[in-house]
Amino acid sequence: HTYLVVMAGGIGSRFWPFSRTNHPKQFHDVLGVGRSMLQMTVDRFAGICPAENVFVVTNRDYTELVQQHLPEMPADQILGEPIGRNTAPCIAYASYRIARQDPQAVIIVSPADHAVVRVDEFRRVVSQAVDAARTQDILITIGLQPTRPDTGYGYIQYREGQEAGIPVELRKVKTFTEKPNLELAQEFVRSGDFLWNSGLFVWRAEVIVRAFGQYLSDIAEVFEEGAAELGTEREVDFITRAYAHCRNISIDYGVMEKADNVYVMPAEFGWSDLGTWDSLHRIGQPDAQGNVVDGDTLLYDTTNCMIKTPTERLVVVQGLEGYIVAEYDNVLLICKRTEEQRVKEFVADAKAKK
Ligand code: GDD
Ligand code: MG
Repeated sequence: HTYLVVMAGGIGSRFWPFSRTNHPKQFHDVLGVGRSMLQMTVDRFAGICPAENVFVVTNRDYTELVQQHLPEMPADQILGEPIGRNTAPCIAYASYRIARQDPQAVIIVSPADHAVVRVDEFRRVVSQAVDAARTQDILITIGLQPTRPDTGYGYIQYREGQEAGIPVELRKVKTFTEKPNLELAQEFVRSGDFLWNSGLFVWRAEVIVRAFGQYLSDIAEVFEEGAAELGTEREVDFITRAYAHCRNISIDYGVMEKADNVYVMPAEFGWSDLGTWDSLHRIGQPDAQGNVVDGDTLLYDTTNCMIKTPTERLVVVQGLEGYIVAEYDNVLLICKRTEEQRVKEFVADAKAKK
């Protein structure tokens, strides 16, 4: 059987102030197409995995929002987390729960903050990965050609050529470097040997459970201890206790950087991570001065800016080059586009100030 686990509990802090704790980006129609990021994510897997095998892992504060966005999804397929502990505990929760019923299940783990242009090609690639994971004891990530030294991604170096016994589309991963610094990212892109980690993973339940045991044994212990309570009416209480014992760590740092059975499937399907203001600028329609504007504005001598402001406000800008100007729900952000990774830090400071 094939399962889909959608990770939709992030707060999208680099997309602040548009993405907010009470309404993070996965619940926004970021592309203005009438579907939220979460809805588009689930749509993308139609035909790959039956609706009864789709799980959404999110903060308990967002389960109602998930229900509103996916009204057909039964409540027990929405896994609520008491606190955000990043993607490793999120994946552990869903994986231990699925493994309990069906250890051989193939699990696709998907972020909820991606845009994909060629959905047919996406489905073809994911189906291939699912087939490979069914028979191989490996951890598969989908890899994409990097186009710039973005420090927000994981970088994958792989071995050229096919491995004996491994499906032809897969390459053995040599190194996995999560969020390198700029110098390293530049080196990686220049060398031409690296792919970006898409954050889309495929593996069997028993294989990822084994990896937790090996590389994140503290988290594995927590979930093993209460595995029998998953899928029962005691699950909620168990999860509340379990998360109190989980550290905050992403699957990338926790497992992907360390495991030695990681394979990458190079792919190209018009992908972008809509995680930051710059990503919105990249996929937007720039005017002749390179500005991507969503809002009511008058611009003078202003170039290469990303502007997203409420329609009820007229925004007049003079002399800005390469800036983000974003206003949402009583917060106005003005930040150099090249400094956008710092938005996370601004959010933390803004919270502390309140
Ligand atoms: N349920 C749950 N709980 N979901 C979470 C949590 C959590 O605590 N934290 C993050 N998520 C969700 C986010 O909502 C998003 O859909 C996904 O998990 C990935 O988290 P991000 O915070 O967006 O990760 P990232 O973009 O910095 O990095 C990951 O994705 C990149 C590609 O987009 C990594 O996998 C990188 O290696 C990768 O290149
Ligand atoms: Mg992301």
